[in-house]
Amino acid sequence: MTSISDIDKIRDRLTQTRSLTVLTGAGVSADSGVPTFRGPEGLWKTYRAEELATPEAFSKNPGLVWEWYNWRRELIHTKEPNAAHAALASLEERIPSFTLITQNVDGLHVRAGSRNIVEIHGNIWKVRCTGCHTISFNDEIPLPPLPACDLCGEPLRPHVVWFGESLDAENIKRSLKAAEESELFLVVGTSGNVQPAASFAEIAKSNGSYIVEVNLDPTRGNGPADTSLTGRAAEILPRLL
Ligand code: OAD
Repeated sequence: MTSISDIDKIRDRLTQTRSLTVLTGAGVSADSGVPTFRGPEGLWKTYRAEELATPEAFSKNPGLVWEWYNWRRELIHTKEPNAAHAALASLEERIPSFTLITQNVDGLHVRAGSRNIVEIHGNIWKVRCTGCHTISFNDEIPLPPLPACDLCGEPLRPHVVWFGESLDAENIKRSLKAAEESELFLVVGTSGNVQPAASFAEIAKSNGSYIVEVNLDPTRGNGPADTSLTGRAAEILPRLL
């Protein structure tokens, strides 16, 4: 259980810090009703990542991949940012140097008002042309079964990072810089199973940052936290303001 004194201690640190970096994962959107990936109700319990979230899967069966992404877009479209997203947007207003690194593709942080954000796994509301590589915002629901680029006619794909793909180099650079320069680093609602995000907290710590984890269960994957706040992100984060 999270003690009141731990909450008070981290709230004090937040009022003093000049530089905060936050890493979020699916647990932040869980209270909005967006499913997480792992755990008993996680997407990877029902769906096979290798059939839906790899470049090979898209080459073999783009219709099936788009069907899954269309289903997720329809689901996310009905959801709203929660108190955790709102608390992070408020922290950004108060702290001189603030970076939010998210693994979530749902776009809920931006809808809640976060601005200096690195979406390291992409965004489900963007599409990318497999021919001319143009990236565009697209919130059409549903997209056609095999959407094509308006500019060149080649197939569109979701602008998300799939297993086996590299992350955008500029996004990694921004994330590492934010981790290294942070005085305080919050790791919220991520299991720490996916690299490189899972090593950002340790990189921050080795550069002198203080690490706070907010999760339903303390994780091992993100490295040792200085303080663990155990509970729902939507309940804990507002208490830190
Ligand atoms: P996971 O599903 O692996 O982990 C979700 C984490 O959130 C777990 O540690 C839960 O304990 C925690 N959690 C659940 N509900 C919570 C709540 N209400 N408040 C706080 N914590 C809660 O999701 P991620 O770590 O985000 O990548 O997964 C990382 C990546 O793996 C995803 O971006 C996705 C996935 O495969 C790609 O698709 C490339």
